[in-house]
Parts: sequence; C-alpha cells; structure tokens
Amino acid sequence: MAQNWTPNSWRQKPIQQVPDYPDLAALSATEAQLATYPPLVFAGEARRLKSALANVSEGRGFLLQGGDCAESFAEHGADTIRDFFRAFLQMAVVLTFGAQQPVVKVGRIAGQFAKPRSSNIERQGDVELPSYRGDIINGIEFNEKARVPDPERQVMAYRQSAATLNLLRAFAMGGYANLENVHQWMLGFVKDSPQAERYRKLADRISETMDFMKAIGITSENHPSLRETDFFTSHEALLLGYEQALTRVDSTSGDWYATSGHMIWIGDRTRQPDHAHIEYCRGIKNPLGLKCGPSLTGDGLIELIDLLNPQNEAGRLTLICRFGHDKVAEHLPRLIRAVEKEGRKVVWSCDPMHGNTITLNNYKTRPFERVLSEVESFFQIHRAEGTHPGGIHVEMTGNDVTECTGGARALSGADLADRYHTHCDPRLNADQALELAFLLAERMKGGRDEKRMVVNG
Ligand code: PEP
Ligand code: CO
Repeated sequence: MAQNWTPNSWRQKPIQQVPDYPDLAALSATEAQLATYPPLVFAGEARRLKSALANVSEGRGFLLQGGDCAESFAEHGADTIRDFFRAFLQMAVVLTFGAQQPVVKVGRIAGQFAKPRSSNIERQGDVELPSYRGDIINGIEFNEKARVPDPERQVMAYRQSAATLNLLRAFAMGGYANLENVHQWMLGFVKDSPQAERYRKLADRISETMDFMKAIGITSENHPSLRETDFFTSHEALLLGYEQALTRVDSTSGDWYATSGHMIWIGDRTRQPDHAHIEYCRGIKNPLGLKCGPSLTGDGLIELIDLLNPQNEAGRLTLICRFGHDKVAEHLPRLIRAVEKEGRKVVWSCDPMHGNTITLNNYKTRPFERVLSEVESFFQIHRAEGTHPGGIHVEMTGNDVTECTGGARALSGADLADRYHTHCDPRLNADQALELAFLLAERMKGGRDEKRMVVNG
C-alpha cells in the first residue's frame, strides 16, 4: 500500500482548479451522503482492465479511449448513449481488423463531468461570471445563479453515471455488441458518407468469417466472446471530494480503489508532483492515465512515474500525449527516450485533440487534418524509436454534430454554427471518428507488414 496515504491525504496538499463552493457545510454533507452510496464499478473490473493494459504496454493490443469532452445533464437520453456506443464499436471493429490485435475499449463516459478551465472567469460583453466547470459543479447558462457551484449536482452526476453505466453494461453484455450485428451498428447519417462503403466491405468480410465459423460449429451461442465485449469507463479525476467519497477498500485484496470509474486520469493542468491530484491518485490501485503536454520534461515525467507507479507495474500507467500536430515531433521523442532509458512500463497513447484546438468564427474547433497529422506523427515516431504506439484518446460522439472542421464531408468554418452542441471542447462526429479509425487501421497494418518483413527478411 502507498506510504502515508489515506483517501483524504490530498486535502493537506496545494490544489489547482477547485470550485469556490459558497456553502462548505452543504458540500461536506453531500460528500458524506455519497460515501454511503454503492460503488459504480468493482475492483475486479479495474484489475481486468489493468491486465488488458499490461498486454498493451508489452506491445500486444491497442487502447481505444473516447467519448465526450464533458457529459451533460441535458444530453442523457438512451439514444445518445446508444449512438455513442455503436460509433465506438464500429471504430473498435475497424481497429481490431486492421491491427489483428485485441482492442481495449474504454469510454470517456459515466463520470466525465468535471472540467479544468484556463480562466476562472468568463466574460461576455461587459459581464463577467465564474467559468463553467462542468455539470457536476455548476450550470453552463451564462447567468449568476447557474454559475454558483452546487454540491447537489454531485449526487445528480453520480445517479446519471449509474444509469449510463447500467445501459452500457446491457449493450456490452446483453447481445447488442454481438458481432453478428456488425452491419446494424452503422448509424443513419453515416450510411451515405464516404466511410460507409469501406465499413460495409469490412462488415461483409466479418459476416463471411462468422458464417464459416458457424459451419464448423463456432457460434455466438457457444462462444461468449463473439456476442459480448469488455467495455470500461474512465474520466478525469478532477473533483477530488467526489472521488474520495467513492474511494473504497476492495474486500478481496484490502486495497483502495476509486469506484467512480474503471480508469481515471490526471489532467495536464493538475499534474504537479507535490499537489493534491497526484497525491490522491498514487494511493488507489486503478489503472491511471496521465496527460502529457509540451511543458512536461523527461525528468518531470520520471518523477511522476516514480510517484504513480513505484513498482513499475505493467498496465498501471497510460501516458496520454497531447502536444499538437506541430509540436509532437519536438516533444514525444524526448519523453519516449526518458522512459526507455529508465525501463519504465507504460502504455503510450495519443490524444490528438487537446493540442489542436483553434478558434474559428467564434467557435472553438479542431481541424480534422491536424488531428490526423498528430496521429500520423505519433505512429511514425514510435516506429522510429522502436516503441509500441499503444492507443488513442479522442473526444467524439455518435451524434451528427458540426464541431470539428474537415473530414470526408469537408465541414467548413461556416458549418460550425449548424449543430455545435458540445458543453466544452469540440468532438469528432461519428463520421470523422470512423474515418480516423480507418486511418489508424492502415497504419497498424503497415506496422504489422513491416514486422513480418523483418522476420522473413
Ligand atoms: C480533457 O481531456 O478534456 C482535458 C481537459 O485535457 P487536458 O488535461 O489534456 O488539457
Ligand atoms: Co476536452
């Protein structure tokens, strides 16, 4: 167990990004109430995810992590969850087929509510109000009342997470994810897109393989792996009072686990080694993500790895790199070399979203070609360094939104106003997400062919 650690030892440390709750007694009462509620996930599930990620860190498998930048109370319909899940499954199937490797599926969902902000204040015209910090903290409406942090929102976020998770578990285990449905996962609006034909062809090949396997007696009835899938949840562990309330001892191992989600990550703004977020995360046993931006030095990274993964356990730590398309070549190689030199076991994942945000026509957006370009560089750099490009981390939705420009439908700056629905950062729509998956599959296939050539040559 981590030394000198308790679920509340983070309270003794300096902390960034804390909301200003006006009523601290009400906040404590809510946290005490949450501490009596059932866990959302189980320690055994988090361990299973950790062992899947351990395989990825050793070069066997690929992590697909994605979902909303911020979940919202307003968008909590079953259709939104289903459409996300099937866009995500489509991506996973494309990647599995391309990489011929297991794809570890982790949603940014069922708990992704709290947002770090670059400014405490938002100004509109002459009016200044506290920034929106995610539905778990305050309201997005631009008025004074909505922007006051309200502890009751934590209970609402907990309940929404439970309901979302319940539906996701049903989709993953109850037949929806059956590979026999591979054609049905195509979303209506994707059907007439340039990706549709590629996906249909791939789905045809999978169906054909399934028919063959059925003929020799391997069916989804007698092989659960054909009809069920492991789907895990993740979010940024930003609101530590909420996280602490859901931190529980696992009765099997006696270890502490965050039960708010299977995997939690530390944001780029809250990764100071002597601060509260690192302190909280070092003591729980879940798989962790660490966002790595341009300001992180090699030594700084090793210091954080020492704190978060002192035993060098495979699968414990995923480094989620988010440099920007024009900075990745400068920063990724030096971090890879620092980690390799020290022999640390990590999963290398690429977040091609957060370093590529620009403002266009007053909208925060991300040009799809920059997203693709960062992913391309990530693969090339890993290939050159001889390390495994282990995953991607994307902000995406199953809805037909217009938030990122570009892609096969060539969304322009003028299109952004059409369906710009995000509560925080711009997301890939299902069409763009699928296009990205095809590109990744090609890169991974390229890597496979190269390896084969080395072996044969
Ligand atoms: C995010 O993932 O939404 C986020 C805020 O990322 P980062 O910490 O990398 O900026
Ligand atoms: Co974001």
